[in-house]
Amino acid sequence: MFNNKILTLYSYAFLSCLLVLVACDDTNRAPDLTEDESVTTNESQEQVVEDPTLPESVLQKWDQGEDVENVQQILNKLSYKVESLGTFDEYTTWAITDIQLQAENIVPTGIYNEETRKFMETLLDEENSITPEEGLALPSDAYLYEHDSETVENPYDVLALVNKEHALPGDYTPEDLVIPNVRYPFTDDLPKKQLRKIAADALEELFAASDEAGLELYAQSGYRSYDRQESIFTSNVEQHGEEEANNFSARPGQSEHQSGLTMDVTSPSVEFQLNISFGETPEGTWLTDHAHEHGFIVRYPEDKEDITQYQYEPWHLRYVGVKVATEIYEEQLTFEEYMEQKSN
Ligand code: DAL
Ligand code: ZN
Repeated sequence: MFNNKILTLYSYAFLSCLLVLVACDDTNRAPDLTEDESVTTNESQEQVVEDPTLPESVLQKWDQGEDVENVQQILNKLSYKVESLGTFDEYTTWAITDIQLQAENIVPTGIYNEETRKFMETLLDEENSITPEEGLALPSDAYLYEHDSETVENPYDVLALVNKEHALPGDYTPEDLVIPNVRYPFTDDLPKKQLRKIAADALEELFAASDEAGLELYAQSGYRSYDRQESIFTSNVEQHGEEEANNFSARPGQSEHQSGLTMDVTSPSVEFQLNISFGETPEGTWLTDHAHEHGFIVRYPEDKEDITQYQYEPWHLRYVGVKVATEIYEEQLTFEEYMEQKSN
């Protein structure tokens, strides 16, 4: 019994020595670097610590990569506490919007573009200064990380999701509404002719392309204020009852029309109505296949009512930009599904 214990102790001691020897053995290390290799290594180490510069590319929500990381490192220098580097997340979108709101003459979109880059360069050179949160209050953690908030806390964001779960603040009015130069079936300059500048420019391109295809699109209804949506919804409820009305008409705050990023379009062949038959017209089928090329999605597709919670609306176009619209088109997603995919 006693001898066995001694034997076991000796075995442990022997094994420990072996482990120490193995750990100290040079043959188990990475082979020595030649001089040239070590220069390469030093160079690449130097690259890592190089100061980040503001990239010239246009970047927006859910973009990924080195350029995004560089912008985020600069944001950190400007006292924004960006943590997850490499993905243009909700916090980064907020920080860019906050900066844009504190610059003169930059339309707040949450998109990092040339104007934003130039302004950020002046911040780095200390020609201008900003204070985080002075432009836009920092959204709650729930909005930034869990996406379960009921109020859209960054309504300027061109990729803001507005639906029955995410409502725009009642007092939100886009600052950059303009009347796109397209056909309308009426002549008065009503507020509903308007869109945000970025969407108006894209709509003009979409109309030009549809003209070239020999089609006759008309813009029927764009921007609506919270109050205007309230009276439309109330009137629909009076006619159809609340449940049925809410299948095709949004409650105030929950309408994308308030974002200024949406236009309802129609054509003479359906007498300028907004109805399901529009989807069967040459204009309607062309939009299904080509709207994304100009940055728009058909926001409430057929057979996706359970996700969008609205009936099929072949006339309701939402601007999201060419990149996102193309991804949504190619993968046949709804905007809800796209956002869900990106934020997970
Ligand atoms: N027709 C859409 C759902 C709206 O009222 O905004
Ligand atoms: Zn609409």
